[in-house]
Amino acid sequence: MQRTLIWDVPTRLFHWTLALSFALAWLTTGSDRWLAVHVFLGYLMMGLIGFRIVWGLAGTHYARFASFWYGPRAALAYLRSVLNGTAARHIGHNPTGSVAIYLLMLLTLVVSISGFFTLGGEEQQGALSGVMSLVQSRSFKKLHEISANLMLLVVIGHLTGVVVESFQHRENLACSMLNGNKMAEPGVPSATSRWGVAALLLALIVVFGFWWFYYAVDTKLDQIRGEQESPHVKFIGTPLADNPQWRAECGSCHLAYHPNLLPSHSWKALMAGQAQHFGSDLALDASTSTALLEYAIANSADKQLTEASYKIARSLKPGETSLRISETPYWVKKHHKITTAQWQSDPIKSKANCAACHLDADEGTFLDAAMHIPAAPAKPKASQ
Ligand code: HEC
Ligand code: HEC
Repeated sequence: MQRTLIWDVPTRLFHWTLALSFALAWLTTGSDRWLAVHVFLGYLMMGLIGFRIVWGLAGTHYARFASFWYGPRAALAYLRSVLNGTAARHIGHNPTGSVAIYLLMLLTLVVSISGFFTLGGEEQQGALSGVMSLVQSRSFKKLHEISANLMLLVVIGHLTGVVVESFQHRENLACSMLNGNKMAEPGVPSATSRWGVAALLLALIVVFGFWWFYYAVDTKLDQIRGEQESPHVKFIGTPLADNPQWRAECGSCHLAYHPNLLPSHSWKALMAGQAQHFGSDLALDASTSTALLEYAIANSADKQLTEASYKIARSLKPGETSLRISETPYWVKKHHKITTAQWQSDPIKSKANCAACHLDADEGTFLDAAMHIPAAPAKPKASQ
């Protein structure tokens, strides 16, 4: 037996980059703050699978699909022999392992593609924003979650297989995926390193990463903040509709609340009651009222333009009309942890002062990433 190169460098680079991306994608699940990273990993994994398909046709001996093209029957038979302790040693992928590999490649595609539909529908962000509504994207979200969980199961199966095989054949398979070598009889075909292809793949990954984090991801939030506080909160989708007349008429006393925050029947009731608007008479003429109401209805929560509008509209019982965003059940639920003292503290003063805590209140998007509770200003020190 002699040390033989089995796994070329591009295959190993692919393997560990995919494994790392998968782990990081799990860690950044469900957090708007890490969404830019999570989505980056999705694109990266999709690209990696694309590379692996090409490499499965054009790579070195053991990387080619032709060298591990086993069907489910062979996979089951091999699994049985592993359980009996009589499994034959395979230099390349064994029949059971190869099925795990095809499953992982397929699931990676399903997870990332359903992820892009979820991103487009739920957050109205990314290349597929505007393609479908939040409700329509629900089934993609389900698919995204189910396929990601399935993938985790296959990963666990794959790891178990690696451990069992390593023990049965007394070789460290994880180690050979790192250094590429295995012990083999003379005459067994060996791979070549293919450093050039690996360098190209690595360069593509690095360039894509730089492009993503320094160019593609919007820097708008940084501009709002006027600072570089966090590098990963900048993922912002299609801007919501804006209307100068609405801003002029409704933005003089308070934030011009974006219409997506209340359903159309609330806006109708607000406009009908404009003479007693929370203690003020708005005194709008008929044509202005009509124009404002039209704009509000066209962009109301019923249109489900954002996650917030979908949830606000759904939280109201049928027939229930709320004139305040801050009295809708969803809003109340989201803000119940904030104490009375915090509401009354200096920069906030009122529940209606959304902009005190939401940096994107003016745009109406209310992303988690743009939210912060301002610290109460330090009390002036007593003069000494
Ligand atoms: C003359 C001043 C004034 C103008 C102009 C005005 N509002 Fe108001 N609005 C108020 C006051 C005062 C409140 C109560 C604020 C508070 O509770 O802190 C309020 C509250 C609201 C709320 C409820 C906020 C919450 O707590 O969820 C909505 C919605 C609202 N206004 C919509 C509008 C719209 C739409 C327009 C334009 C058509 C408008 N306002 C114009 C004075 C005004
Ligand atoms: C005192 C600061 C503060 C003010 C003022 C405030 N919010 Fe919030 N808001 C928060 C915090 C904190 C959360 C996060 C709650 C959580 O997820 O645990 C939140 C969450 C939300 C969410 C859910 C975001 C999501 O995707 O989960 C929406 C929508 C929202 N706020 C809308 C508003 C609107 C509209 C106003 C004004 C009428 C407002 N908020 C005023 C602090 C504030």
